[in-house]
Amino acid sequence: MLGLALVGLSCAVNAQEEQKVQGFVHEQSDESGYVWPTDSLVLKKLDVWKDQKFGVLFHWGLYSVPGIVESWSICSEDVDWIPRDTTWAYEDYKKWYWGLKDSFNPVDFNPDQWADVMEDAGMRYVVFTTKHHDGFCMYDTKETDFSIAHGAFKDNPKKDVARYVFDAFRKKDFMIGAYFSKPDWHCPYYWWPYYATPNRNVNYKIANHPERWEKFCQFTYNQIGELMKGYGNFDILWLDGGWVGSDDQDIHMDKIVDMAREAQPGLIVVDRAMRGKHENYQTPERGIPEKQLAYPWESCITLSNDWGWVPNAPYKSATKVINMLAEITAKGGSLLLGVGPTPQGLIEQPAIDRLHQVGEWLRANGKAIYNTTITPYYQEGNIWFTADKDGKTLYAIYALPDGEKLPKELTWNTNVPKGKMTVLANGKRASYQVDGNTVKVSLPNNLPNEPLVLKFTLKK
Ligand code: GLC
Repeated sequence: MLGLALVGLSCAVNAQEEQKVQGFVHEQSDESGYVWPTDSLVLKKLDVWKDQKFGVLFHWGLYSVPGIVESWSICSEDVDWIPRDTTWAYEDYKKWYWGLKDSFNPVDFNPDQWADVMEDAGMRYVVFTTKHHDGFCMYDTKETDFSIAHGAFKDNPKKDVARYVFDAFRKKDFMIGAYFSKPDWHCPYYWWPYYATPNRNVNYKIANHPERWEKFCQFTYNQIGELMKGYGNFDILWLDGGWVGSDDQDIHMDKIVDMAREAQPGLIVVDRAMRGKHENYQTPERGIPEKQLAYPWESCITLSNDWGWVPNAPYKSATKVINMLAEITAKGGSLLLGVGPTPQGLIEQPAIDRLHQVGEWLRANGKAIYNTTITPYYQEGNIWFTADKDGKTLYAIYALPDGEKLPKELTWNTNVPKGKMTVLANGKRASYQVDGNTVKVSLPNNLPNEPLVLKFTLKK
């Protein structure tokens, strides 16, 4: 099931290109794989979530210390996106990596700064890595000592890091999501030290050692339980590692979800790439689906190239982020933007700068994004259309390509306006002509050179 996940992703963010830049990309579940939840509380929460449109996915863990690919460097797969110093023997490398626990000491850790920056960016929900594939827990789990609360940071009052992250965002009314990796490469019940660890999968035959596998299932159940029962209210449980939980690595997801929902009624569960009833929304990764999708979905895309912090990251421009958000919204999805806090525990300035610009744009144009719905005719070249819930007020978002100048005129078909058309950001009138089905808009002078939104009423 895990080929490269490239079917149906548009060129706006070309997943193939992104794959070359960094990382394994999960296959997106297909349309037929979506199963509508039956729990009315889950449906209600999904509706609320769908209106938020813009969230942040933090990757913060051991890998942030040297600023390398998240977790994957300890996975012994022969693929070019897993870089490792070739002069090091694999086992020595792994030892060094596990040892990062003793140098991960984020003394400047300031989750309020994270929340301020993301609020300023116009984001409305957060997902935080409580545990990535390397198994290093960013919360004070009782199930293992391999956590931030038992490493170099152990004497800090905020050693139970995830708790402080979630609380900082709750104060700002964000919806709260816990990222949790099902595979755990540190847990001896998943990667048994008795055997070599040739790839991402469990490294023994479950059929030969069922009791060992059951210990892993119990460990996972307990850890998710700790989070769901002891860390306040959650809206989303975002489960990564879509190769665990398929037929041959069954971790009893029904049981986990029942327990989690008992603690968190209405919880949205995102068992990524698994298809079926525990994938309450789908998560195309590093790309945008080609067309509108009739079920809940979210594109997760990095602000730089990596999920975690790396030195001198090549951040995307604010315009690019805005354009992605416009396209995603017009297609009915949400954007979960990946940002990596520094090893010291802060969001760094180049990321803040981009995010602030996105926020400025959203403060003026957010009506075209938040709480909108899709409209049947949703694209004409660089113009993306969204609609108010009444379906009558339309927004035409011109996704200005980086480095280009705003044109003097915009032309589209089908979405014919009636009455006044305005520039959303400043309320100024935009004049237009209609010829049959074709609409020609003359843009007012002196508009800032940024993606532009026009608001109008649709002529029925
Ligand atoms: C991919 C990566 C994983 C990352 C995730 C975020 O699945 O393999 O490391 O956490 O994307 O979406």
